[in-house]
Amino acid sequence: MIPNVDNDSLVYLNGERVRLRDAKVSVLDRGFIFGDGVYDVVPAYDGKPLRMHAHLARLERSLEAVRIPCDLTRADWERIVLELIEGSGLADCVVYIQVTRGVARRDHAFPEGVEPTVFCMVSPFTRPDERLRQQGLSAVSLPDERWLRCNIKSVSLLGNVLARQAAIDAGVDDVIQFRDGHLTEGSAANIWVVRNGTLLAPPRDELILEGIRYGLMEELADRCGIPFEARPVTEAEVASADELMLTSATKEVLPITRYNGQAVGSGLPGPVYARLRAAYDAVIAAL
Ligand code: PDD
Repeated sequence: MIPNVDNDSLVYLNGERVRLRDAKVSVLDRGFIFGDGVYDVVPAYDGKPLRMHAHLARLERSLEAVRIPCDLTRADWERIVLELIEGSGLADCVVYIQVTRGVARRDHAFPEGVEPTVFCMVSPFTRPDERLRQQGLSAVSLPDERWLRCNIKSVSLLGNVLARQAAIDAGVDDVIQFRDGHLTEGSAANIWVVRNGTLLAPPRDELILEGIRYGLMEELADRCGIPFEARPVTEAEVASADELMLTSATKEVLPITRYNGQAVGSGLPGPVYARLRAAYDAVIAAL
């Protein structure tokens, strides 16, 4: 029995629907041995997934980038995700999808004739509460020590795990990572910077994971008439930002109101955040 999960919940494993407690994978699975796999996380509200197609398209891009052959079609993925949500009876939930290169004798080279391991589960989604929305998060800066293919949503997350733990050890909610003096991202979220009314984010390149909320925030900024620029952002620009925020499937959009022990702007969630937040809530309400 695994603590803090619903061991009776139904999961998808290699075409079967089984209880979480009964879902078993070989110790020779390359996900376990090498972290050789990719994943995605789809949030759903009141049983309705948000931007499922964009998440599935990203999953397909990740599979292609690491050359894991998987013959599940887009329609198969959709069915798996929707059936899991429906079967769970959960209103707000997150669907986790993972595909590894499969089970084989330990050898770094790609194995031949091996089926990928496909695992999906659904968990309750505890949305950020009103207190977090009002007070915001705290963050500290951290050198980005991850690999150079952060655009792939790989299950090899040791760098991200160490980054999140660095935040916890520093007594804050998250880190803001920098590579060569430029902003990359949080431990598991994209970071947004507001300066003089303009929303800034680092370019979509191999140094960050392009969140599904990256495109969504761009759309929302456009809808709200907030100028948006994707460009390299320096450490100094982050330190003197008017507002900072982060986005992810599970954090939605949240303000960062303390950075390296200092208040960000007024120390309260800013006006650009407030407009984007309202626009994000409107997207959820319209699902
Ligand atoms: N993480 N950057 C990183 C490194 C991430 O891990 C995530 C999401 C994001 C934001 O992506 P999106 O908007 O598509 O959620 C950016 C997920 C939630 C996770 O690992 O659980």
